[in-house]
Amino acid sequence: MYVCLCNALTDGQVKDAVAAGARKPRDVYAHCNCAGQCGTCGRTILGLIREMAAEPGRHATVQ
Ligand code: FES
Repeated sequence: MYVCLCNALTDGQVKDAVAAGARKPRDVYAHCNCAGQCGTCGRTILGLIREMAAEPGRHATVQ
């Protein structure tokens, strides 16, 4: 599912960024080699970060 339309970022990409240490939306953008533009996705990205922080083992990614 796309969470950032400006940068075509999916929830999977955001979760990968968070798993790699991103703790703020700007960290996610940096991990994905892009930058925030309209800001609409900020709350959604923050929600994913908080969700993963609350349940760290549930979002393990398979490499
Ligand atoms: S939807 Fe993410 S910056 Fe616009």
